[in-house]
Amino acid sequence: MARVALVTGGTRGIGAAIAKALLAEGHKVAATYGGNDEAAAAFTAETGIKTYKWSVADYDQCAEGIAKVEADLGPVDILVNNAGITRDAPFHKITRDQWNEVIDTNLSGVFNMCHPVWGGMRSRNFGRIITISSINGQKGQFAQANYAAAKAGDLGFTKSLAQEGARAGITVNAICPGYINTEMMSTIPEKVMNDVILPQIPVGRLGEASEIARCVTFLASDDAAFVTGSTITANGGQYMV
Ligand SMILES: NC(=O)c1ccc[n+]([C@@H]2O[C@H](COP(=O)([O-])OP(=O)(O)OC[C@H]3O[C@@H](n4cnc5c(N)ncnc54)[C@H](OP(=O)(O)O)[C@@H]3O)[C@@H](O)[C@H]2O)c1
Repeated sequence: MARVALVTGGTRGIGAAIAKALLAEGHKVAATYGGNDEAAAAFTAETGIKTYKWSVADYDQCAEGIAKVEADLGPVDILVNNAGITRDAPFHKITRDQWNEVIDTNLSGVFNMCHPVWGGMRSRNFGRIITISSINGQKGQFAQANYAAAKAGDLGFTKSLAQEGARAGITVNAICPGYINTEMMSTIPEKVMNDVILPQIPVGRLGEASEIARCVTFLASDDAAFVTGSTITANGGQYMV
């Protein structure tokens, strides 16, 4: 069934793949971004998907932005919380700003997006909320205390909201990607990729954004109504939980 889907950070990387996959499923899709107008314009030119600019770290901007999307496309049925940032530093060097920016975007951003759509989903007795967490929220990671804390927080949030949404036809799930072949990865030196990263991944390669998108389209579908509060671990076997 065609529905309205909103993907945060949907103009680049994993989010762009998710937005395109949801469009291919026949949904009406909106993609948000934080500041890169050029990438957003290129994404719309390529896909025809309308983009909206606001920071997920700001509650009021989320509420206003979602109202705009709903005026354009209709009530949001599927929310994909994908927007995320890193501000890596070992703990003895991390600044309060690095801590706060990551918590505000990767954890509070998920609250800020879910809260304005929750009432509508409850009243319509249908909703799909899918949050892109991370393998590092499951296992921790050197120099990522901020990122791992936020991404682990997303998992606790997901399981709690799943319990509250279950009777209202709202499923709430998370996906924990491992290393995915995005722009971010192309900056890693070949030697580090071959000698350090790939040996950690039993399947012997990076994941593709389209592989995460396929997890999302399943969780967003009517077929996934019995799947809630779960975490799909998509990491090539790097970390098994
Ligand atoms: N890549 C990986 O290997 C990997 C692994 C595990 C988990 N993840 C998670 O997967 C998600 C997507 O990662 P990615 O690598 O595809 O990221 P990316 O290529 O850096 O894209 C991030 C997207 O989020 C948007 N964004 C960032 N901060 C925002 C804010 N405050 N408000 C609104 N939008 C904001 C960006 O907008 P602009 O274009 O305007 O900057 C962009 O559209 C993230 O949550 C990340 O933590 C990624």
